[in-house]
Amino acid sequence: MGCVVVTRRLPEGGTDPLAAAGHDVARNDGDIPFTKPELCAAAAAADAILCVLTDRIDDDVLAAGGDRLRVVATVAVGYDNIDVSAANARGVAVCNTPGVLDETTADLAFLLILAASRLAADAERDLRARHWTGWGITQYLGNDVHGATLGVVGYGRIGKAVARRGAGFGMQVLHHTRTPTGMPGYVADLDELLAECDVVSLHVPLTADTRHLLDARRLGLMKPTAVLVNTARGPVVDEEALARALEDGTLFAAGLDVYEHEPTVHPSLLAAPRTVLLPHVGSASRATRTRMARLACDGIVAVLAGEQPPNLVRV
Ligand code: GLV
Repeated sequence: MGCVVVTRRLPEGGTDPLAAAGHDVARNDGDIPFTKPELCAAAAAADAILCVLTDRIDDDVLAAGGDRLRVVATVAVGYDNIDVSAANARGVAVCNTPGVLDETTADLAFLLILAASRLAADAERDLRARHWTGWGITQYLGNDVHGATLGVVGYGRIGKAVARRGAGFGMQVLHHTRTPTGMPGYVADLDELLAECDVVSLHVPLTADTRHLLDARRLGLMKPTAVLVNTARGPVVDEEALARALEDGTLFAAGLDVYEHEPTVHPSLLAAPRTVLLPHVGSASRATRTRMARLACDGIVAVLAGEQPPNLVRV
């Protein structure tokens, strides 16, 4: 049986499939991210690595794994932290956790849509700081979500789950992907969608093509009354340009769960008005995080048994 290094603390029961398959599990129960030398040392002694999105699995780590390392499974749907091409070149399989976090992440995206549109964070901050001196008819005037036009950018499972919620809230829903979906609401030109929507929610993976997809120019195409929500990956948005747009009032509000340089949040964003900021909790329900951990383990168990896992990442 194999040795599986688990790089962070996982929800209770998360590694059950590894134990059930008889693998030895070496845990980093301290829950402090491994440094690069620690990751390399862990890889050198492992048949498999169960990692999370804070672990950068680059070619050095994969090289440290030598001939023994056979699979890296991340407890996340996004795998931009793993050099998949390098892994494949070294014969190391990569697995992720698609399909089990869509509804939970879509719930969080919708929470941000509602909270940002209705200025919930500003209002709560004022109340907690005892700055609220009494009800006023012109206080915290946000935007209605019902009746607004929602633009979903990236129309995979999570994007579609957000679109369903939008329809349920009486929104008109448009979507954009590079490849035409043939579905109602498809807008081929991202710029056009941005100019038309009252709320834009991002659901694209982070790739070389999507880095700063929402740059100053594209942010400038959005209505000054519009709301931007990002639960995908931070670098999809130029944070500095976003903070400027919020400060200048050329964008009404933003709801963010992800950042360009986590856990650092750009100081201009921290200071920006009408902004709801969450610490990357899109999939953070107990049930979903447990399902994710188990699915990542299932991938490892399959690869170590010489089988093809259903959650294999292909590039
Ligand atoms: C979370 O960000 C994930 O990719 O699962």
